[in-house]
Amino acid sequence: MKTTTLGIDGPEVGVIGLGCMGMSYAYDTAAPSDDEQSIGVIRRALDLGMTLIDTADVYGPFVNEELVGRALAGNWRDRAIVATKVGFVVEPGDSKFAVPPRFNGRPDHIRQSLDGSLRRLGTDRIDLYQLHRIDPDVPVEESWGAMAEAVSAGKVRHLGLSHVTVEEIERARSVHPVASVQSECSLWTREVLADVQPHCEQHGIALLPYSPLGRGFLAGRFASVADIPADDVRRGLPRFQAEALEANLAIVQRVRAIAERLGASPAQVALAWLVNKGRFVVPIPGTKTPKYLEDNAGGGAVELSADDIAELDDLPAPRGARV
Ligand SMILES: NC(=O)c1ccc[n+]([C@@H]2O[C@H](COP(=O)([O-])OP(=O)(O)OC[C@H]3O[C@@H](n4cnc5c(N)ncnc54)[C@H](OP(=O)(O)O)[C@@H]3O)[C@@H](O)[C@H]2O)c1
Repeated sequence: MKTTTLGIDGPEVGVIGLGCMGMSYAYDTAAPSDDEQSIGVIRRALDLGMTLIDTADVYGPFVNEELVGRALAGNWRDRAIVATKVGFVVEPGDSKFAVPPRFNGRPDHIRQSLDGSLRRLGTDRIDLYQLHRIDPDVPVEESWGAMAEAVSAGKVRHLGLSHVTVEEIERARSVHPVASVQSECSLWTREVLADVQPHCEQHGIALLPYSPLGRGFLAGRFASVADIPADDVRRGLPRFQAEALEANLAIVQRVRAIAERLGASPAQVALAWLVNKGRFVVPIPGTKTPKYLEDNAGGGAVELSADDIAELDDLPAPRGARV
């Protein structure tokens, strides 16, 4: 796996990481989770060089961090760059995103949540602690200040933001360095490439594209609504409604054609396109399936020509809003 660093001052990471959310949350939540398989996927990711392992307290809630903690017990821990998040309010039993979302970015909540995350992850330090969302009722400087205290206390190494504007990045940076920004970014969600990504590049901040495979759609997983599991957050998303999904298959067909030409998979092409967008761009595709993990790891080695990139840049816009 090719490597980069987590922003200009951060630790080395594989250019493709692993998102763990879907192992315990949001997708196919009625199916029994296979934790042993997921633990195998996390460890295999480390063997493949996908060292950035992303979770959040909200995933599960809480059980996803416990799962990551079990996977990284013992010698595995030091091979991973562990990234988790704080800032959503979660209630036990929330198996999907709360709509409308509930936020808490108050310093006391952050301090308390951090100790819970450390305990569940079974570690004495988190490599990347991310503010999952800015709480509209709490200035980002206050939340970020509490997170910076955790760095001073040695509980956290680097701080990251998620789903933010350039202005919010700058406000946070005035308090403490920003190592990374996590944003939805993929062949069908490109908004941040216009402003957030160039800003991150300029300031040596990593961009961690989340849902880089369009929640599986760009990898060719869904030919119709019937392919989406019954208890699954995607059933409620605009791009996955019958008419939109059908129209959006035109995007996948184009990606598939490029992939076939290159002897790669659609997922690999979608990831390679992202990796090409900057020095510190590290997509974090999510999977609990061993064969998909191997597939995604291969995305780091796919070489796209300027013509391939131009063709991918030119794909049609999707039907349906982002969320
Ligand atoms: N900061 C935020 O607000 C935020 C929001 C959403 C997600 N995230 C993070 O980003 C990570 C990734 O996002 P995501 O899971 O939403 O979406 P994603 O990575 O775009 O897609 C995940 C889906 O694609 C499937 N898949 C993965 N690799 C595949 C392959 N090679 N071929 C076919 N299908 C494949 C997975 O299947 P299986 O699961 O069945 O294997 C899963 O259904 C999450 O795990 C989480 O860590 C962050």
